[in-house]
Amino acid sequence: MPTAIRGPVLTFTGDPYRHGLEGTMVHEPDAIVVMENGLITQFGPAATIEPNLPPGIAVTNYGADALISAGFIDSHVHFPQTPMIAAAGAQLLDWLNRYTFPTEQKYADKEFARDVAKVFLRENLRNGITSGCVYCTVYPQSVDALFEEAEKLGMRLAAGKVMMDRNAPEKLLDTPRTSYDESKALIAKWHNRGRLMYAITPRFAGTSSPEQLEAAGALCREHPECFMQTHISENESEVAWIRQLFPGRNGYLDVYDHYSLCRPRSVFGHGVHLTEEEMTVMHRTGAAIAHCPTSNFFLGSGYFDIARAVRSDRPVRVGLGTDLGAGTSFSILVTLNEAYKAAQLNGHALSAGHAYYTATRGTAHAMYLEDKIGSIAPGMEADLVVLDMKSTPIIEYRMQFAKDFEEALFIQMTLGDDRAVQATYIAGRQVYRRGPQHRSAMLPV
Ligand code: GUN
Ligand code: ZN
Repeated sequence: MPTAIRGPVLTFTGDPYRHGLEGTMVHEPDAIVVMENGLITQFGPAATIEPNLPPGIAVTNYGADALISAGFIDSHVHFPQTPMIAAAGAQLLDWLNRYTFPTEQKYADKEFARDVAKVFLRENLRNGITSGCVYCTVYPQSVDALFEEAEKLGMRLAAGKVMMDRNAPEKLLDTPRTSYDESKALIAKWHNRGRLMYAITPRFAGTSSPEQLEAAGALCREHPECFMQTHISENESEVAWIRQLFPGRNGYLDVYDHYSLCRPRSVFGHGVHLTEEEMTVMHRTGAAIAHCPTSNFFLGSGYFDIARAVRSDRPVRVGLGTDLGAGTSFSILVTLNEAYKAAQLNGHALSAGHAYYTATRGTAHAMYLEDKIGSIAPGMEADLVVLDMKSTPIIEYRMQFAKDFEEALFIQMTLGDDRAVQATYIAGRQVYRRGPQHRSAMLPV
């Protein structure tokens, strides 16, 4: 049975970095989106769609103060770090040793992993995130726990077992052989099961021996349809350390390229300090960068230059990532707010249109999924978020002075957070609806 939702819609038909916002951004002030069997079957102005709706169809009308968008996509996030978000006082390598590695040891216990996976996915839905590329831990049971919970929701999710065989506590280490075998078994079990997809996950060159990177490369060659995710050039001390660990290679990205890890569907977290030569390799190989601004500011890593990355003579695919638990918010609106500031520090202003593109279709493009998710059109998977454009008293007040739609969008990404998410749909099913308590009542004075 089809269902439908009605309200203002924002979506993109292409890449505004290449073709401009005028030709790619669609704002339909009163639209209907019809969904059936997990897909969008019709989308257009209410005036055209309404007369042709199937008789008896339920239409949920969100009204003029809503905004319906494709669900947000988080291209870089660590679900096991949910219990340690907001760990103070350290930069990357120290932060990993002090907080991350001790926390990740708890995931040998599958029930603990399941409990965290539930909280993690709940927060995704509360923030309108309907897809992602997720790191688990070195323990295969942590991957099973996340996939089992995501499968219940019908989410399109990529995830993988972390491979790491050095420079971490003994309990978190695998070996080149066991990491290959366990990843291989998880691919056979989960890749393309429903909407789930596998991501081959060597944590980063600092925690993998050359032999393990070789094993990860073999997995990539054997499974070109799987994702590959790792970290690159996040922090200057990290970049210097990787140079020491791999003196024979011509820089950080060359380590990964040497082991066949640079290819389509490879998602490299951060890339804050990539050289021009490395950007060219990213472009040539079709790999993507996950831009994680809240994390980069929190760990003092730097500020990624998105305008430079997408430069038209050698555009690199860029997705948006929260990078929890180094990232400080599940909210994509908050993440866009920080992306704006990162761009400002690089001397550019990120427009609201470009920002929302990056959070939806742009990240789908980075993950080679733009034929399935990231935009609203017939045939696309029906993953949607419904925003409330007046979700707090100050946003409601500020919206009176918005002179156009772009300004209204910018207000949302600068002032909005999880309270702005009214509803989330996965494969056409409503999986989250905001409760009435999102605005605290004013006491009379
Ligand atoms: N580099 C290697 N592992 C990690 C991690 O867990 N988080 C971040 N932000 N960077 C990393
Ligand atoms: Zn990360």
